[in-house]
Amino acid sequence: MSSKILVLPGDGIGVEVADQAIRVIEKLNEQGLNASYEKDLVGGASYDVNGEPLTNSVLEKAKNSDAVLLGAVGGSKWDDVERSKRPEAGLLGLRKELELFANLRPALVFDALVSASTLKNEVVNNLDIMIVRELTGGVYFGQPRGIEDTPNGKKAIDTQIYYDYEIDRIARVAFDLARKRNNKVTSVEKANVMETGVLWREIVKETHKDFSDITLENMLADNCAMQLVRNPKQFDVIVTDNLFGDLLSDCAAMLTGSLGMLPSASLGEEKNGKRHGLFEPVHGSAPDIAGQDKANPIATILSLSMMLKYNLNKPELSNKVESAVQKILSEGYRTGDIYTNEDQTLVSCSKMGDLIIERI
Ligand code: IPM
Ligand code: MG
Repeated sequence: MSSKILVLPGDGIGVEVADQAIRVIEKLNEQGLNASYEKDLVGGASYDVNGEPLTNSVLEKAKNSDAVLLGAVGGSKWDDVERSKRPEAGLLGLRKELELFANLRPALVFDALVSASTLKNEVVNNLDIMIVRELTGGVYFGQPRGIEDTPNGKKAIDTQIYYDYEIDRIARVAFDLARKRNNKVTSVEKANVMETGVLWREIVKETHKDFSDITLENMLADNCAMQLVRNPKQFDVIVTDNLFGDLLSDCAAMLTGSLGMLPSASLGEEKNGKRHGLFEPVHGSAPDIAGQDKANPIATILSLSMMLKYNLNKPELSNKVESAVQKILSEGYRTGDIYTNEDQTLVSCSKMGDLIIERI
């Protein structure tokens, strides 16, 4: 059966990197993928044309596709647009509407790239951790929120809310993943200060009873940030809320040397053997280099590889893509963000695409 992929390039370098991923889809179709794809607008690109960052028609297409591949959204061009129409609102809308509660952000250090990290070689070599970020709850979506005038001056409110079921289902994702990895989960919150942290710790402990073969460790979020740069290899799977996950995943990403390398998967609940999935690079739209064919398409190509593994049930094709990326790096090809010395060959975004495709 053929799969339907919706490609939403979005803004800035999202457009260039998505183009390379599309070429990879075409190449994989020659090797048994059997996927069709359609492109559409999201983020600022959609706002410019439709006056909103996510139209109903795109949302419907996303719901009816087997997976969504997204480039990136945002840019200073839309700084003055009201919040509900900003590019980011398009991405947040997709996450919420498709109920993509589980965000998987692997931080993997490729052998060939150890020297691109700002940390010492021995601290990061062979690093392989997975951050599981809760993506549809917490302070990102909690009500009430807003800025109000009061007799005491302007007041801003954000609300952090977590229900027990939201914590339980994300914890299950983390424990399941740990089982396929190194059997350890670090659950991260601020139980020393926040009520949501207290409930988080309690529910994760409860859920853990179904996964007694997995080691569970609880860690405060500030300590986790510190431990990530001090000794990242102590971690296997980290599970945390929406906001802490946002912060800690950027921090973990940088251990690997470049945000341009890191893919992510956002997954919904499995229903009748199917689940929604949105796959996107962790990096942003990088307006400063947009349109110059300089961006690194690897994070997006690896996001496609996650899609093959998690939603399209093509693990062998996913492995092929990952090997091609490993190969290209060990042959010394680099885009600007990961170029560190003259022994390497500096290539453009599209050239990187060519090279990877040739090796698939
Ligand atoms: C991310 C981004 C988003 C977030 C922005 C673009 C809304 O930083 O995916 O990590 O905060 O979740
Ligand atoms: Mg972020």
